[in-house]
Amino acid sequence: MKILLTYTSLTGRNEEIAKHLADYLKDKGADLDLEQIVDTDAFGLSDYDAVIVETYTYHDGEVPDEAQDFYEDLADVDLKRTKFAVLGSSSKTHLHFGRAVDYFTMQLNSSNGEQVADSVKIDRDPDEDDYKRVEALGDYILKSLK
Ligand SMILES: Cc1cc2nc3c(=O)[nH]c(=O)nc-3n(C[C@H](O)[C@H](O)[C@H](O)COP(=O)(O)O)c2cc1C
Repeated sequence: MKILLTYTSLTGRNEEIAKHLADYLKDKGADLDLEQIVDTDAFGLSDYDAVIVETYTYHDGEVPDEAQDFYEDLADVDLKRTKFAVLGSSSKTHLHFGRAVDYFTMQLNSSNGEQVADSVKIDRDPDEDDYKRVEALGDYILKSLK
């Protein structure tokens, strides 16, 4: 069972969370690839059993620039019921809190993915409760692959 965790991060928060989640899943025995969205081929996602997408939100509720190509490609992808989950740190000080998480969640559903966990939005730096929500998302992914 192979999992992809692909993320994008400008100031490091989502990178830190992605690494935490990757370590958590690997400790539980997962075979996991961790990479950045700029390096991810949307058309290769259905080769995985599960995909986790992590993003911040930018420009008044937009998908970050470096994730746009990946996001747009997803419209032409058939995920063939690949399991997925979405998360991301963004900021409640902006309008449209974490909207890029919503965009990816909608698009991955439209691309015939199977959402196995509620999307997780984190306000700026994650606290202990946020990490619990991140790990719970990971647990749902693992459970879906059993
Ligand atoms: C110019 C700018 C625009 C932003 N726009 C939004 C936004 O529209 N919605 C939101 O929820 N967060 C917004 N943010 C907050 C970032 O998503 C947040 O700081 C996030 O934690 C950054 O993650 P990173 O450290 O992984 O880059 C914005 C931040 C900046 C600097």
